[in-house]
Amino acid sequence: YLNYHVPRTRREILEILLKGLLRLEYRGYDSAGEMRRLLIKQSGKVKALDDELTKQQDMDMDVEFDVHLGIAHTRWATHGAPSPVNSHPQRSDKKSNEECLLLKCICVFFFFLEFIVIHNGIITNYKDLQKFLESKGYEFESETDTETIAKLVKYMYDNRESEDLSFATLVERVTQQLEGAFVLVFKSVHYPGEAVGTRRGGPLLIGVKSDHKLSTDHIPILYRSLGINNIINLDSLLLRCPGSAVIEHTNRVIFLEDDDVAAVTAGRLTIHRIKRTAGDHPARAIQTLQMELQQIMKGNYSSFMQKEIFEQPESVVNTMRGRVNFNDNTVTLGGLKDHIKEIQRCRRLILIACGTSYHAGVATRQVLEELTELPVMVELASDFLDRNTPVFRDDVCFFISQSGETADSLMALRYCKERGALTVGVTNTVGSSISRETDCGVHINAGPEIGVASTKAYTSQFVALIMFALLMCDDRISMQPRRREIIQGLRVLPDLIKEVLSLDDEIQRLAAELYQQKSVLIMGRGYHYATCLEGALKIKEITYMHSEGILAGELKHGPLALVDKLMPVIMIIMRDHTYTKCQNALQQVVARAGRPIVICDKDDYETAKSSSRTIKVPHCVDCLQGILSVIPLQLLSFHLAVLRGFDVDCPRNLAKSVTVE
Ligand code: F6R
Repeated sequence: YLNYHVPRTRREILEILLKGLLRLEYRGYDSAGEMRRLLIKQSGKVKALDDELTKQQDMDMDVEFDVHLGIAHTRWATHGAPSPVNSHPQRSDKKSNEECLLLKCICVFFFFLEFIVIHNGIITNYKDLQKFLESKGYEFESETDTETIAKLVKYMYDNRESEDLSFATLVERVTQQLEGAFVLVFKSVHYPGEAVGTRRGGPLLIGVKSDHKLSTDHIPILYRSLGINNIINLDSLLLRCPGSAVIEHTNRVIFLEDDDVAAVTAGRLTIHRIKRTAGDHPARAIQTLQMELQQIMKGNYSSFMQKEIFEQPESVVNTMRGRVNFNDNTVTLGGLKDHIKEIQRCRRLILIACGTSYHAGVATRQVLEELTELPVMVELASDFLDRNTPVFRDDVCFFISQSGETADSLMALRYCKERGALTVGVTNTVGSSISRETDCGVHINAGPEIGVASTKAYTSQFVALIMFALLMCDDRISMQPRRREIIQGLRVLPDLIKEVLSLDDEIQRLAAELYQQKSVLIMGRGYHYATCLEGALKIKEITYMHSEGILAGELKHGPLALVDKLMPVIMIIMRDHTYTKCQNALQQVVARAGRPIVICDKDDYETAKSSSRTIKVPHCVDCLQGILSVIPLQLLSFHLAVLRGFDVDCPRNLAKSVTVE
């Protein structure tokens, strides 16, 4: 954080950094550290770091600084377990024990660190670099790949050929030695009042704040090969994070591109690149984030996840707003209009995603096949890449991602682009890597999703994909009755979601009966197979119970062996074309003494007769019913996690935005 106009106390600066970290904590990171003339690190939650800061009695919190520059980081462990020594910032120089105040494994250093770095991503050649640096006498203290960068920058600084090497150029040289994906921010005693950030394969955003009206809405790139002469004066918050950490200070941001090196020096921001290459835009625009502070606050809810579940009547409306016309049954998607003809002519659609976003693809595949009459493949990004899946120029590849930053999906996107396919993004984050790198796309407009377990993004992705399917067949006469049925289904959807949410108390009671169980099986087929996968994922990720989503058609091919009178079984049986087959599955479970809890249509008395319990949801057009069947499972997972005493917003070991492969 840097603001050179107003002197600030140490306390104020630390508070700004800590608040920023707190806003990022939802992303599921597991240790935190910060540096502002002192380095404090702690494993666990940001609160632990805050507590440690409060204990620093001997530090004068009221001392004022004219130039304030601090860096702070929350970590999601890749190399090395969550611990203070593995937390970032990582440092270039290891200090002896007497210089280090060890407070319950918290390290506090004053002034003397030569280089420190915070990092997100993975350095794939770190072992080679470490070997090289060890041969030069460097000692490593952590298990992280990041420490290699801290040591490397010092090595390159110590061995610089000229005295006036700038910090940005030094960082640029360091990154030339690194392989893998990274977002880095550096600070050094050799460059006081300066921080340098760079990215390759991950997001880096600069929050821009100024007391004066800026005379420009672009920051020109300085190409080292052309000499440096353009500098913009502003206060900036240099952060690797989505907008939530900066939004309370500013909504004006710059998204950096791969290999940009941004330097903030005494209130001046410069962005550098080595040289201009074909297709490079010579400036970075200052953009306005469409995010309100209250959108990232919990309000009256106990957790973000609960808030987001209850937001779904509005979030699906926001996904459809200005796009679906319920009077003339038309759909407009501005982000696709120039490409729709090309998409209609394609060979096949490939939906590529991870986790919940993948489930949104599974959920809508059938209606996409029906309305587009094209083959539709749904692929997990990691597996798609592992298989080197053949992709052709006449394929259209969709990348579904809430964050727009998931590394596996981003790699798959680049893979498909290289093969000439048209790429379409379906994301919730404007300016994210996926939304910027795809040829066209749909923004799902669900609003910021903070809970690590995705809920409202799933239902909005679902709606966005259905809108796309409707658009694809808008000129097909034979499809019109079906289109009308689905569009009218979308019209009533928000009210039906509200009706499902009113079952909350009933679902809480069910959770009270189930929360001590070890396992839950969830079975269904057709449109609801995705609901089973998604419900099981929600349960396992936030309750740590074992849960499996089972295709009911596969029951007799193995999973039935798990069923007995003790195993909790949830079945989804809706009045659609699979109804009779689902009834068969129900009877197979009951015949093995199973006591299924069934999510079914509210007037389905037949199913109720064979169930130990029913959760009755309103009826909707078949291809949208999956939105109504998943909400009881979102609520159930939430209540189970609360009853089991877990933090629903920050499940262990998980990160909201998985920017490593
Ligand atoms: C589960 C969950 C994850 C994400 C997955 C992909 O609740 O949130 O499975 O869906 O990590 O993330 P995005 O959609 O950001 O690409």
